[in-house]
Amino acid sequence: MKIFKSKTDLKKYLVAQKKNKKSVGFVPTMGALHRGHLSLIKKALDKNDITVVSIFVNPTQFDNKEDLDKYPQTLEQDIKLLESVACNVLFVPSVKEIYNANVVAEKFYFDGLEHQMEGKFRDGHFDGVGTIVKNLFEIVTPDVAYFGKKDFQQLQIIKKMVEKLELPIKIKGMPIFREKDGLAMSSRNARLLPKYRKAAPFIHKTLKKARNKTATNNVNEIIDWVKTKFEKHPLLELEYFIIAEETSLESVTSFEPKKKYRAFIAVFAGDIRLIDNIRFKNN
Ligand code: PAF
Repeated sequence: MKIFKSKTDLKKYLVAQKKNKKSVGFVPTMGALHRGHLSLIKKALDKNDITVVSIFVNPTQFDNKEDLDKYPQTLEQDIKLLESVACNVLFVPSVKEIYNANVVAEKFYFDGLEHQMEGKFRDGHFDGVGTIVKNLFEIVTPDVAYFGKKDFQQLQIIKKMVEKLELPIKIKGMPIFREKDGLAMSSRNARLLPKYRKAAPFIHKTLKKARNKTATNNVNEIIDWVKTKFEKHPLLELEYFIIAEETSLESVTSFEPKKKYRAFIAVFAGDIRLIDNIRFKNN
């Protein structure tokens, strides 16, 4: 695997590959790689001539300094994992390489997608995500980029950005990868204290039960049911639970035929914030 720290060197390498008509798949990450990341990377390897993975803990998308400082960094182990799946290229830039001295986010308008859920609770988060992903897309110029559906709002926002900037990049959303007990895989799971790790599968279990209620309960009843479940939980604290239309991400109060819906949740397990989502049947 080739490892690049310099964007100029990576660009030079990729220009040469593209001249040879090689297709490029791209998986941007913040490292602390787990099996969820590997599923995206394997897909990219399968569908493209060259797969580039980036590892960059992007400071401008964190609204909480402690979360940024404590974000798991496991580069050596990540490199081993990437080598085990025969990844072609790793890009690990420094903050200076990406931002120079100006560590600030560009302002984006994603047609309102940025004001829902994570945008409401994590100030400036999607400006930070938009800034880094746009920047990485300019460096890597991939044919296809892969994002996990665990961050479903991020996925919709990246699709919107690509559409607005008219970038010739296909964005692929990949299924949520879960632990055996249902917990959505996340780099932050490694920071959960054992009692919170044990409690965390309750999130997905509750989402599944909520989904099963669509035949018998209306949207408000389902929301109230979920809130009560968490109020009674001794360890997990609900930040939000909403049911939203998949494309606009606007929360709904009733289901309409032919539209797609998803439930979204954010929960604190101690000081670790976990998010998850589930597709709802439309009936
Ligand atoms: O999903 C992530 O890991 C990050 O938000 C991303 C897309 C790599 C941008 O920093």
